[in-house]
Amino acid sequence: MRIEFVASDKSKNPAGGAVAVMVFEGGKLSTAAEDMDRATGGAVTRAIAAGRFAGKPGQTVELLVPAGLEAQRLVIVGSGSDSEWGGDTAERFAAQAFQTVKASGAETLYVMIPGGKPEEAARGALGATLAAYRFDRYRTTEKPEVKPSVTTVKVVTDDSKAAEAAFAPLKALGEAVYFSRDLVSEPPNVLHPVEYARRVKALESLGLEVEILGEKEMTKLGMGSLLGVGQGSRRDSQLVVIQWKGGGDSQPVAFVGKGVTFDTGGISIKPADGMEDMKWDMGGSAAVAGLMHVLAGRKAKVNAVGILGLVENMPDGNAQRPGDVVTSMSGQTIEVINTDAEGRLVLADALWYTQDRFKPKFMVDLATLTGAIIISLGNDYAGLFSNNDELADNLLAASKATGEPLWRMPVPAIYDKHIDSAIADMKNVGNGRAGGSITAALFLQRFVNGLPWAHLDIASTAWKKPSTVPTIPEGAVGFGVRLLNQMVADKYEG
Ligand code: BES
Ligand code: MN
Ligand code: ZN
Repeated sequence: MRIEFVASDKSKNPAGGAVAVMVFEGGKLSTAAEDMDRATGGAVTRAIAAGRFAGKPGQTVELLVPAGLEAQRLVIVGSGSDSEWGGDTAERFAAQAFQTVKASGAETLYVMIPGGKPEEAARGALGATLAAYRFDRYRTTEKPEVKPSVTTVKVVTDDSKAAEAAFAPLKALGEAVYFSRDLVSEPPNVLHPVEYARRVKALESLGLEVEILGEKEMTKLGMGSLLGVGQGSRRDSQLVVIQWKGGGDSQPVAFVGKGVTFDTGGISIKPADGMEDMKWDMGGSAAVAGLMHVLAGRKAKVNAVGILGLVENMPDGNAQRPGDVVTSMSGQTIEVINTDAEGRLVLADALWYTQDRFKPKFMVDLATLTGAIIISLGNDYAGLFSNNDELADNLLAASKATGEPLWRMPVPAIYDKHIDSAIADMKNVGNGRAGGSITAALFLQRFVNGLPWAHLDIASTAWKKPSTVPTIPEGAVGFGVRLLNQMVADKYEG
């Protein structure tokens, strides 16, 4: 899908394709909607009055081949209150318009940004970009008439040059979200740890430095916790180290991701029903890879490190057993009670390695860590756990700004004893299911050596089924890329 910015004076009544205009709550027409209403002899106001359209976000009305217009289709999009108009609404408006007409047969969609401000036009372009994501690599027999028809979105603005410039960093963001969504969508027979690492290595073309550590190197480093998870897999486990050096000699910020390319549960095997979802158990690492992609893409003025712990959790003659004791890189020993609580075992060594080697300002890890976070927060909020209020507040502020919802959860010391083991330094699960996301966070915290740290449990948000917002089609979300990019841009650059 192509994005173009076109000048508003040349596109009052665009020819062909679809045109989207906005109407606010209470039926107040935007200027473009007024223009269309006049050109059609009042068809817009009549269409609104004919139904239950009230200008609420998500509501749309379509007029086909309206007399007086050159376009084939006019889409009236509700966008909420007039007073709340801004970048967020522009994004949602363009995304909603795209979803409405994407398979209508129209090839071009004009998005009439109210006010025409270039910054808002750029946000509209981002909205359409995110809405247009589709993973169709493995479809070979799809009929042309059901394929998306829109190939170009023309965003109408007062100043197309300025809009183009404002869009540059957002375009980089869109590409990074696509990269992240692709990784999450790929089937697990294709995207195993070695292939995953290879795809990330290709990001060197953006100016990133990428190192890949295999099992031999990780054995030397003493990463018994991570390696235990992958030992039942035919694929080599990988630790991928991505560096973006845009911040001179400043101390780096660090992001660590869980990358279980498939989680069968191991010997503590999961039930068959829904197990296919566990292909996206690498969503945390995909967010980190996406973040590094956008930092490089927009040449961010920061030093950032992204660490991906990539393993496949399989049952096998060589697989780890419940009851095994492993020694982590930190020296702490772990009794593996449940081989399905594998994400924390991967992160234990990845976190330790990150602080040991890079001495970062802080570490944020992302992981599809626990089913319990879905029970706690439902499918729209990810859980935030942190030992540091400033870092937590920065994440919450970025969450508000980007619409990737976080909810802060406690990391209470009184629960820490729940992961004490009878024979080792700790065990990898709590007592029963109570507070499952919290005991998981407490486990991770034992591998954080005094520095500010935050953990995002994104098991609830990595995948959308069904789609609930127009910028996120059903499937891989890319959750975390936008949020972290925003936090870095707002707080840690320059
Ligand atoms: N990858 C899962 C968590 C998960 C569950 C993600 C559902 C997305 C949807 C994780 O490795 C896991 O299996 N966690 C266990 C932990 C338990 C054994 C303590 C869980 O949540 O059941
Ligand atoms: Mn598991
Ligand atoms: Zn898992």
